[in-house]
Amino acid sequence: MLPGKAEVSTSQLHIYEEISMTQHATLTIDGKTFQLPVITGSEGERAIDIRALRRETGLITFDPGFGSTGSCASAITFMDGERGILRYRGIPIEQLAEKSTFVETAYLLITGKLPNREELTRTSVMLNDFSLLHEDLKFFYQNYPSKAHPMGILSAMVNTMRSFYPELIDLEEDISRTFLRLISKVRTMAAMAYKISRGHKTVYPRPNYSYGANFLHMMFDNPVIPYEMDYDLVQALNVFWILHADHEQNCSTAAVRVVGSGKVNVYAAISAGISALWGPLHGGANQAVIQMLEQIQNEGLTIPQVIARAKAKDDPFKLMGFGHRVYKTYDPRARIMKKMCDLVLKKQRPNGNNEGDTLLDIAMELEHTALEDPYFQEKNLYPNVDFYSGIVLRAMGIPTNMFTVMFAIGRLPGWLAQWQEDYHDPMGKISRPRQIYTGEPLTDYVPIDERE
Ligand code: ACO
Repeated sequence: MLPGKAEVSTSQLHIYEEISMTQHATLTIDGKTFQLPVITGSEGERAIDIRALRRETGLITFDPGFGSTGSCASAITFMDGERGILRYRGIPIEQLAEKSTFVETAYLLITGKLPNREELTRTSVMLNDFSLLHEDLKFFYQNYPSKAHPMGILSAMVNTMRSFYPELIDLEEDISRTFLRLISKVRTMAAMAYKISRGHKTVYPRPNYSYGANFLHMMFDNPVIPYEMDYDLVQALNVFWILHADHEQNCSTAAVRVVGSGKVNVYAAISAGISALWGPLHGGANQAVIQMLEQIQNEGLTIPQVIARAKAKDDPFKLMGFGHRVYKTYDPRARIMKKMCDLVLKKQRPNGNNEGDTLLDIAMELEHTALEDPYFQEKNLYPNVDFYSGIVLRAMGIPTNMFTVMFAIGRLPGWLAQWQEDYHDPMGKISRPRQIYTGEPLTDYVPIDERE
């Protein structure tokens, strides 16, 4: 079971306990000097605390894209983009990918600790209990156009859940139930969206399957060809979801926190996160990578041609799956995902159908050539997790337009943990950035007959 009220409060205080404030930065403006505290987090990363800046100087900071801005203090995930480090609650991602399961990792992110046996069993039982959808929700799916993107459907359905399952956010018990309900039902909703898009009968979850196995069962079982569970694929899926479970203040998580800061209900905040994730510069990149690799294959493009396009100043084309706002070295998740490629491609292609391998070959050549190229070296552009995750999902039989939905299922525990942390933050405020206005100066209204 997820934490009770007392535990949540303690972990929230912990956010600020780890901050030390021993230095000051000096700002001189218009001949006046201001002292700004320098704060240091538990891994030594430092920030200038500018909360009093506008009040004391009348100035704001200017940082579009927030590349130099810390929007919160958080005790959930640590990443160091220069050294390629990612840890959830202090535990390296490599250890979690090797030893944990997605459900256990979700528990860790949300509660701050690994579950004991009893807690894990209770969590699994509740995930199983919550796995069915209200039958009325099915009608919503049936009225979407058949070509609707599953991310749009998922975002809308999660928002709709608020009407079916109202939460009582004053009671920790209800927050726990809401979180587990979301984690369980989002998986059912994703599989159901796929089945309905194919015109197939929806498949109900089975209580004897784990979280990941149940997803594959609901996606691929059908009355005439029963799905044979392959536990290597279940493992690859677990690893995929663990790698995506949190990534500190990325675009979609920031969206969840910003929307949540208005004290909106958790379903609406998560729905905003799903919408943010949809874009090709963020979670949509795994789909974009496969489309790029297929284009190279189908049009017979050479790798040097593709690299040349990615480097051309006047061409908006970017190498999908390359580059990252924070990682300036190899994304540690990409290394693990590359290993999963080997596992699933070996499994899925025993009879010489090497279509997936061909895409992997193209990906490897692209990676090798880009890493040797001075343009990518100088800009510190390395493969990110999406460079390989699309190949893994494709080999499992997941259709391309579902890739970002797979990412959303994985990121959900992180969004919930971050929403919860923000909700309980004793220093929390509604998010409300400022701007530098560059529009017209004061202009009088012109009646319509006098306009040019
Ligand atoms: N291919 C070619 N050039 C690139 C790439 C790329 N994939 N990524 C960045 N660059 C170039 C930029 O054009 C820019 O060049 P300039 O300095 O000459 O203007 C320079 O590298 C710096 O890039 P920015 O865009 O400033 O980096 P930013 O941190 O804003 O963007 C992003 C990061 C969005 C991930 C970018 O690298 C990108 O678009 N990559 C491709 C999409 C992708 O893989 N997204 C997934 C990210 S991981 C995730 O969300 C799970």
